[in-house]
Amino acid sequence: MSDSSNLQLTEHGELRHFLTPEGLDRLMLERILDTADSFVVVGNQEIKKVPLLRGRTVVNLFFENSTRTRSTFELAAKRLSADVLTLDIKTSATSKGESLLDTLQNLRAMHSDMFVVRHSDSGAAHFIAEQVTPNVAIINAGDGRHAHPTQAMLDMLTIRRHKGRFEPLSVAIVGDISHSRVARDQIHALKTLGCKDIRLVGPNTLMPQGIENMGVTTHSNMDSGISGADVIIMLRLQTERMASAFLPSAGEYFRLYGLTTARLSQAKPDAIVMHPGPINRGIEIESAVADGPQSMILNQVGYGIALRMAVMSMAMSGQMQQRQTQASQSSSLIGEKKI
Ligand code: NCD
Repeated sequence: MSDSSNLQLTEHGELRHFLTPEGLDRLMLERILDTADSFVVVGNQEIKKVPLLRGRTVVNLFFENSTRTRSTFELAAKRLSADVLTLDIKTSATSKGESLLDTLQNLRAMHSDMFVVRHSDSGAAHFIAEQVTPNVAIINAGDGRHAHPTQAMLDMLTIRRHKGRFEPLSVAIVGDISHSRVARDQIHALKTLGCKDIRLVGPNTLMPQGIENMGVTTHSNMDSGISGADVIIMLRLQTERMASAFLPSAGEYFRLYGLTTARLSQAKPDAIVMHPGPINRGIEIESAVADGPQSMILNQVGYGIALRMAVMSMAMSGQMQQRQTQASQSSSLIGEKKI
């Protein structure tokens, strides 16, 4: 699972799967952001469609519930003019006893070009990219507590559009770091894009041991953790991934780590507040902040469509390039045999 960089790139260094920002270089991450910027413009037009994925089939495979991610992936594929199939896995053949592998082989036989995969097991998208589907582009839409690359990159797009360069920024990521697949990818992306001050803020029970090795600082005190920050990213308590109780109570959590208007005044006056959603008002964030002028939470959703259009179109063109390379390699092999 660690060496995903080669798996994600074609022989010519183009994106062909998008599984995690880990291992991708700055140039690639910036290309993704630049491409997404151009799709933000498309999203503001009267006619929001471009023909980049015309004739291509995209299958959304959501093995785990999702509203925002699933609908923005679907909209992104439609705006790229793809044929889109969204599979409700609970009513699909998998629940009738067909294995995941069989389901995937059937979808391949239907000549699908891209799978967008969300799964509660860490590594599911990597497994599919590695073992199951040569010639099908795989986009990871969140796997277990491991990675959520399109969320992390839409967050980078939000930061870049509102704050510019990453180098001088102080970014605080607050909450349940341990169970968050978003935080890990945010850290990888922020570091690669040049951010020097990344602070993780939360109770010790929700802070992974040794996380400082990723080049971040950890803070169990919220006020000092967000002091002078340019960007505050709030995370949800991922109770569905907690095996036991990590916190005394939701009320106590809000008292210590909830982002209130008073707390927000510790950050820079023009700090932006982000959250991947779904938000829990009164647990990690006060309504006045979530709905306030510094909140980017709804902007993030819109940027999510543009960012997903960017990675889908880039991976599809990388995958096409890879198919052509393989086809020309095999035809030259046939040619050699004839001689
Ligand atoms: C995140 C997820 O599903 O990991 N949300 C999302 O994709 N919009 C974070 C979360 O569920 O809290």
